[in-house]
Amino acid sequence: MTTHEATTRTLEQLGKVSPEAVSEAFAALRALFDHEAASQGGDPEKWKVFVIAWTGRKSGVLSQITDNWLKSASKELKPVVGQEVNRLKSYIEAVLESRRLDMEAAAEQAAAARDAVDLSLPGIERAIGTRHLIRQTYEQLQRIFLSIGFSVVEGPEIETPYYNFEALNIAEHHPARDNMDTFYIAGSRCGHLLRTHTSPMQIRTMEKQKPPVRIVVPGKVYRRDNPDSTHGYMFHQIEGLAVDTDITFCDFKGTVEYFVREFLGPKAKTRLRPSYFPFTEPSAEVDATCHVCGGSGCRVCKQSGWIELFGAGMVNPAVYGFVGYEAEKLSGFAFGMGVDRLAMMKYGVSELPLLYQNDVRFLSQFP
Ligand code: PHE
Repeated sequence: MTTHEATTRTLEQLGKVSPEAVSEAFAALRALFDHEAASQGGDPEKWKVFVIAWTGRKSGVLSQITDNWLKSASKELKPVVGQEVNRLKSYIEAVLESRRLDMEAAAEQAAAARDAVDLSLPGIERAIGTRHLIRQTYEQLQRIFLSIGFSVVEGPEIETPYYNFEALNIAEHHPARDNMDTFYIAGSRCGHLLRTHTSPMQIRTMEKQKPPVRIVVPGKVYRRDNPDSTHGYMFHQIEGLAVDTDITFCDFKGTVEYFVREFLGPKAKTRLRPSYFPFTEPSAEVDATCHVCGGSGCRVCKQSGWIELFGAGMVNPAVYGFVGYEAEKLSGFAFGMGVDRLAMMKYGVSELPLLYQNDVRFLSQFP
């Protein structure tokens, strides 16, 4: 007969009729309880079954012995049995309570460990952006001209034909308009267009300001070009204009040479080639010694040793007429550079579209 089974009998049936025998029976029960409690694993379901087996109201061991051992006990034995029942009961309850607290603490610890923040893990890193290569190039260009007394002004991207062409001495059917086809604003009565160059700001500045003038004008310009690896519908320019009473071709050349050396490095040489713009006279293309081969000739400069940088020239006196300047007393020079082109050249970018695709793999090469 197992000890558990014994609790379904009376003490008399079990032959425990002396106080010593009763104490023995209780000692055996307590040993059994200790043994079962000790062999419990951490499974909360099994633990529940164990607790009910001992303290369950209906058929738990404590109820059984109250019903079967205590109630039927003889008058003489009753106090002993009662005492033993109470002792066993408080013992079991105390053990169960302390085990319950242990289990709760363990569960809490496990949950805490599960939710714990691992401070040694690397955090979420947010990439810090950089200034776009075009912006960086603009800043270099502006810094160079600011250092020799130019100031920066900006103007509208939507222009009138007057500022974009006429006042720059480009008459309506002048062939110079051919390579400056652009986008016209539908429904505009005065034929508003997206400016094809930053030169209109020469006019707007001189209209507003008496000489001397020394400005550079950064900004977007538009042309109806077919997109390819060096053309788009929009690109960036920086315009320059210097007008005063005593500006000579020497000043023009010196300024251009200073700029080229500052932008490309002290070894870069400059060459002026005759060119044509209606608003400058004489006009020139400014070339620099090839930044790749240093002038000896390579694939980039098509073996010529020179790279074309930008267009420039002495301000055509005809332009002064459009802004109310006294042409006889004034002279000056102007230039207009393609910033995308300069950036591509300086940093070895082969495809113009790379500048506009916002591909981080490209952008992050120019921190
Ligand atoms: N505006 C001319 C162009 O876009 C460049 C230029 C500017 C030439 C100033 C001479 C003087 O092609």
